[in-house]
Amino acid sequence: MRKDKLLITVIALGLTWAGPIRAEDQPIEQQLIDAMSKVFGIHPGFRANHAKGIVAEGSFTGSREAAGLSRAVLFNGSPIPVTVRFSDSTGIPNIPDGSGNANPHGMAIKYHLPDGSETDMVINSLKFFPVATGEDFRDLLLALAASPPDAAKPTKFEQFAASHPSVPAAFATVATPDSFADEEYYGVNAFVFVNKAGARQAVRYQMAPERVVHLSASDAAKQPPNFLMDELPDRLKRGPVTFHLRAQLATAGDSTKDPTIPWPNDSKLVELGVLTIDKAVPDSSEEEKKLLFLPGALTEGIDKSDDPLIDNRDGSYALSFSRRNP
Ligand code: HEM
Repeated sequence: MRKDKLLITVIALGLTWAGPIRAEDQPIEQQLIDAMSKVFGIHPGFRANHAKGIVAEGSFTGSREAAGLSRAVLFNGSPIPVTVRFSDSTGIPNIPDGSGNANPHGMAIKYHLPDGSETDMVINSLKFFPVATGEDFRDLLLALAASPPDAAKPTKFEQFAASHPSVPAAFATVATPDSFADEEYYGVNAFVFVNKAGARQAVRYQMAPERVVHLSASDAAKQPPNFLMDELPDRLKRGPVTFHLRAQLATAGDSTKDPTIPWPNDSKLVELGVLTIDKAVPDSSEEEKKLLFLPGALTEGIDKSDDPLIDNRDGSYALSFSRRNP
């Protein structure tokens, strides 16, 4: 197109001609996805992060204590069907499950509520998050992208980690499990429960398995590349897998907006209910393409907290979904 014609088009569309858009002027959600593509490469059809995963189904039954904390229909005590996707970290679709880079492993749960709506939880095996804002997460990813194995020391990533102590501290909390069923998953971001009386309580989720089994790094590295993805359907043929969903309750002084700061170990934990996974879906790789889990897809009785990561996550998950389903 000739330049004058382009200008007319710009004016006709009511746009302002500001020259090429700089990366730092893009919405943060797009900067985050673009930074992930720099670190992991572009893999059409796959998630920008947690690209490798497996889908299963089951149900959740809420406890009486949960119903006292939140009026969400999720906790009304009747069984709620769920779709669950377990995953490896990174946007690399063929990452070996035992690779250290596949930590933290993810668990995304979609609860199919009686009125036909859905609510999601998107949690992982980090006990707390390495950074507190979308901008810092972008910078962490860019530092990783600028630190190939042959980079001069200290690498950009080492420099970033040195100036953000929560980065090495958070990564030190993860290990490779022997099964997706033997891992504990954490919500990391805070949400707010609202009960029938209107009382508000900030919580962080924990999803506890019947037992946690972690492999040493050297044993993890010896496992077949798809050992976690293959093990789950095999295990489900022998019987269901159960988890206990718990809420860690905030008390005065616990930060709800900074997911790098764990709440005290002696915080009150309330059992919210039991999640039972009883079948693998027949065609997981087709099924997972259609699925979009959003941390901010909430139901009445559960609100977002002031943690800015929740909106950053919603925006970037939606963008990743639109890119993987063009
Ligand atoms: C600013 C921070 C974060 C960003 C930008 C981010 C970004 C992403 C993106 C783009 C995806 C792919 C979404 C899709 O295509 O459907 C994803 C998936 C995922 N993320 Fe995050 N994430 C963030 C923080 C977290 C946190 C705090 C957790 C857990 C506590 C988490 C757990 C997961 C899991 C489990 C998946 C896989 C979801 C699925 O199975 O569809 N992420 N993330």
